[in-house]
Amino acid sequence: MIPTIARITGTGRGLPARIFTNDDFASIGVETSDEWIVERTGIRERRIAAESETTCWMAAAASRSAMSKAGVTSGEIDVIILSTATPDRLLPATAVDLQAELGATRAAAFDVSAACSGWLYGLTIAEGMIASGAIDTALVVGAEKMSAIIDWTDRSTCVLFGDGAGAVIVQRNKAGEKAGILSTFMRSDGCLADLLYRPHGGAAHPMTKEIVENRSHLVRMAGREVFKHAVREMSEAADRALDSAKLRGADIDLLVPHQANKRIIEATAKHAGIPMSKVYVNVDRFGNTSSASIPIALDEVIEKKIVGPGSTVMMVAFGAGFTWASAIIRL
Ligand code: ACO
Repeated sequence: MIPTIARITGTGRGLPARIFTNDDFASIGVETSDEWIVERTGIRERRIAAESETTCWMAAAASRSAMSKAGVTSGEIDVIILSTATPDRLLPATAVDLQAELGATRAAAFDVSAACSGWLYGLTIAEGMIASGAIDTALVVGAEKMSAIIDWTDRSTCVLFGDGAGAVIVQRNKAGEKAGILSTFMRSDGCLADLLYRPHGGAAHPMTKEIVENRSHLVRMAGREVFKHAVREMSEAADRALDSAKLRGADIDLLVPHQANKRIIEATAKHAGIPMSKVYVNVDRFGNTSSASIPIALDEVIEKKIVGPGSTVMMVAFGAGFTWASAIIRL
């Protein structure tokens, strides 16, 4: 058995109250149908945040729940790693707003920008910091207000995304602990960045009236190309996580993939040799919440007791960049 350095000791999620169904797109003049969206993506509804439900607000709700389940107080947190593609402000990091909100006065806090793979990147960073001896306890959050950066007039993207946050507490293992992070894997390919991006509004092309009028500060995506890469790279990420943990698909009790699209999830599971009965899917209820999708799903499967102490869980993600990542944990 591979000795582990760190384990997840608590999970939580924070979701906006408002449910926006596929049929609700008609009310904002988007020409689409429930049938088209369900057939292509598996999505039936998503949560859409109100103005007061900021990225930090959702992150704080998820974090408080994870801390309470782990029995960790804000003063015990050494580092807050917050993955987001939708920071509340461009400066400073949303992680420091979260730190202030939680009163985690001892913690260092920073954001990770790796799109949908960001929470798995954060988990890997937390494990590495624990391994180095720098910290004992990390709060790793994925929080996204995707509704703020999608083009609500572009039916090929606006139907895909939703808002939400998920969080976990990661702590140093005690000697002989069986639970823990068994393997992690991260990879990127920046040559493909323009297949899923926000063209303008950053430091290279700061905001102008024209940018806002052209909506070129919002997400643009080449859907079919992204689909092909997502299937290929998520399959690679699954292989690499299994190899590093010296496991096979049959050893995995549950696959918790990034929830972008049911067809991408099915293709990834098939490649890894994992039947759909061992794959968790909630994209039908939340849409694609980017880096929040895996920690939200992880919190649900633990709460529903689909997995429990001793279960082996594989998580796999793919996102803008492109970035892709995976991890296998034993609960
Ligand atoms: N409702 C109805 N019709 C639509 C909609 C819609 N919401 N969106 C597009 N269409 C139309 C198009 O206009 C096109 O019509 P045309 O043939 O008359 O031109 C037709 O449907 C087919 O469009 P495609 O884009 O070719 O449809 P496709 O089968 O590829 O499905 C989809 C599109 C669902 C976006 C698919 O490509 C996909 O899932 N891609 C991956 C996207 C994704 O998951 N991205 C996120 C991953 S990374 C991350 O999470 C950040």
